[in-house]
Amino acid sequence: MPSWSTVRNDFPALHQKVNGKPLVYLDNGATTHKPQVVIDALSHFYERDNSNVHRGLHALSMRATTAYEGARSRVARFINAAAPEEIIFTRGTTESINLVAASWGGANLKAGDVILLTEMEHHSNLVPWQLIAKRTGAKLRYLPVTGDEGLLDLAQLDRLLTPEVKLFAFTQLSNTLGTINPVAELCAKARAVGAVTVVDAAQSIGHMPVDVQALGCDFLAFSAHKMGGVTGIGALYGRRALLDAMPPWQGGGGMITNVDFFESRWKPSPERFEAGTPNFADAATLTATCDYLDGLGRGEIERHDKALGQLAYEKLREIPGIRLLGPKGERGGLVSFAFPDVHAHDIVTFADDDGIALRGGHHCNQPLMRKLGLTGTTRASFYVYNTPEEIDVLVASLRRIRKFFGSA
Ligand code: ALA
Repeated sequence: MPSWSTVRNDFPALHQKVNGKPLVYLDNGATTHKPQVVIDALSHFYERDNSNVHRGLHALSMRATTAYEGARSRVARFINAAAPEEIIFTRGTTESINLVAASWGGANLKAGDVILLTEMEHHSNLVPWQLIAKRTGAKLRYLPVTGDEGLLDLAQLDRLLTPEVKLFAFTQLSNTLGTINPVAELCAKARAVGAVTVVDAAQSIGHMPVDVQALGCDFLAFSAHKMGGVTGIGALYGRRALLDAMPPWQGGGGMITNVDFFESRWKPSPERFEAGTPNFADAATLTATCDYLDGLGRGEIERHDKALGQLAYEKLREIPGIRLLGPKGERGGLVSFAFPDVHAHDIVTFADDDGIALRGGHHCNQPLMRKLGLTGTTRASFYVYNTPEEIDVLVASLRRIRKFFGSA
């Protein structure tokens, strides 16, 4: 088991003061900090190997290509994909989902088809489906969320998952509620009606073991920057048979076998979906990122983060007037809350005075907020370097804020 107190030493950005107080970084749902090994991997790439990939026959280009394709294999192993060709590098979760919507959706959806989503989806797993629904005439349908407890209303699933559903897209871990969805069960049910599944793993990928073959999903999307990796790089996992049947999304260099003035032919996946110069330097750092997380142990990370989420939920529950969202039982490593008389942005601003980084707002979940009668919440989200003591600092700060606003 890792020594959680020393894990903190791996992250240089954590050792600073904010407003004269030690930084308590609880905005990991938005982005995590980076361990020194990942920062080093990026600077080492630029110091030694920097060159464009796939096109050059010289030493640096070959080294860069080896690093880039090595990272693809490492990511495949990290999520237990059947082959590296099932990993497409993208800018992150949003671009991955847009790729599936435009390419798979554009080729396969038609009027009368249904795209099933859930009410807890982030805008990145909602707006791309609205766009492709408008283009193809497909309809959107939503699996409801139960209310403040934030569970999927699974009793409704059989009624909603009809044969017209061609695609079911849902998050593995809600960024606002902390709910962990039963992905394998949802994928099995979708498969039974012939629907393709898209899993948004943005909030889960760095926080628990993710095995795409065990989950049985068709596509899975994630970003590196929420798992201790660098910004601007992420991946789309897709089942090989589906990817091979999909048209390109963007056209350009690197994705063709032959180009004529009026037609072109495509390479197979992954090149088919990586037009132009890819983000090879950031991609190369994914090897160090995956190695770091596997070194800590992803089951251990899951236990650690869930324990902090539960502890925060229990401690915050004692603050008078607080409205806590998300499951009372098992939850991911985050807690989301609101006070009736204090705006989330005021809480974030006041907590910043205490050196605490929180997030306040709709968290790209506007439809869910409307359903719950909220304009936003304040969210504390945890990662491997957070401690129970930091939750005590958060609770003390929230009590101070409540007092300031005259409601404690
Ligand atoms: N999607 C990120 C969040 O939940 C930005 O904060």
